[in-house]
Amino acid sequence: MAKLLEIKNLKTYFYTDDGVAKAVDGVNFDLDQGETLGLVGESGCGKSVSALSIMRLIPNPPGKIVDGEILFKGQDLTKFDDKKMQEIRGNDIAMIFQEPMTSLNPVFTCGDQIDEAVILHQQVTKEEAKKRSIGMLHLVGIPAPEQRYNEYPHQLSGGLRQRVMIAMALSCNPEILIADEPTTALDVTVQAQILELIKKLQDELGMGVIMITHDLGVIAEVSKRVAVMYASKVAEYSNAEEIFYNPKHPYTLGLLNSIPKLNKGQGRLSTIEGNVPPATNYPSGCHFCTRCKYVDSKLYTADSKCWNIEPVLEQVSGTSTMHVVACHYYKEIEKRRIKEGDKIPSDAA
Ligand SMILES: Nc1ncnc2c1ncn2[C@@H]1O[C@H](COP(=O)(O)OP(=O)(O)OP(=O)(O)O)[C@@H](O)[C@H]1O
Ligand SMILES: [Mg+2]
Repeated sequence: MAKLLEIKNLKTYFYTDDGVAKAVDGVNFDLDQGETLGLVGESGCGKSVSALSIMRLIPNPPGKIVDGEILFKGQDLTKFDDKKMQEIRGNDIAMIFQEPMTSLNPVFTCGDQIDEAVILHQQVTKEEAKKRSIGMLHLVGIPAPEQRYNEYPHQLSGGLRQRVMIAMALSCNPEILIADEPTTALDVTVQAQILELIKKLQDELGMGVIMITHDLGVIAEVSKRVAVMYASKVAEYSNAEEIFYNPKHPYTLGLLNSIPKLNKGQGRLSTIEGNVPPATNYPSGCHFCTRCKYVDSKLYTADSKCWNIEPVLEQVSGTSTMHVVACHYYKEIEKRRIKEGDKIPSDAA
């Protein structure tokens, strides 16, 4: 049977005045029914562009999917025309967008906006849509849904607005939900509630979920498998346990080192030095080489292949599960870390 979703060698570029921004450049991952896949990486890594590519919502111009396949149950969405895509969006694949404040229209009530999503995709009357919308508001845990139905977005708190967004995304019972940083703008307790809610709805509705975040803490809460993205590419990809307890890529190690560990009495948090380079100007070898602490060290010289040859994802040796990493020297780095007593961040916790 075909996978629910399979992304193969996806390339999405933006043609800008500063040159070609290769925002997503050869990305692969897949999603099973009922599964949560975490897509994690720092700002600018290409997470949202990957999601918007799946939804076929890349603004053109300047953007374009230039290569690859997006297989939804075996059908390649990159080949679909606008009309067919419109049927897929909302009906089969729904997305909670990164900016809820801009995604809700301030001049319409919350109810009207959910109704519209329902009516667009299902053959129902306005009255039926309203009933369904109120049911959705109830499902996502909004108190007094009949009253909230008639309110405008500005009358709701950030947490409630986010719930309205989730209600809208789920109103047509999609098979895939893409949640792009669904909790970033919210305070911690509301964050936990929203994640709990997505998990609960997923159990009830059996959706596949792609959870996008820059926060590995969120990923640890919800994801079975994790794709770590760096600068337009997947750097490491495996199940969550492997990513947390047997990480191989220096970038994954850096991310894990920057998770705060409460009550663990640990010292300062380390962050990865430097920034993600602009998408118009990625290094020609490994995209992480400008920030990798193992490059330029005693182990490697500046003319090593890190600078010149792009590493491809390879299966990590000695592991029976699917665990791929794109680093020329992951084995050497591991040996060196063991020698230097450099603990895996999750073990040090
Ligand atoms: N419309 C656009 N025009 C030009 N470049 C773009 C456009 N949209 C995105 N990009 C570039 O694509 C790259 C990836 O952006 P993307 O929004 O996917 O990052 P992200 O991983 O979602 O980051 P964040 O965590 O901040 O949301 C960035 O370098 C960004 O500048
Ligand atoms: Mg984003």
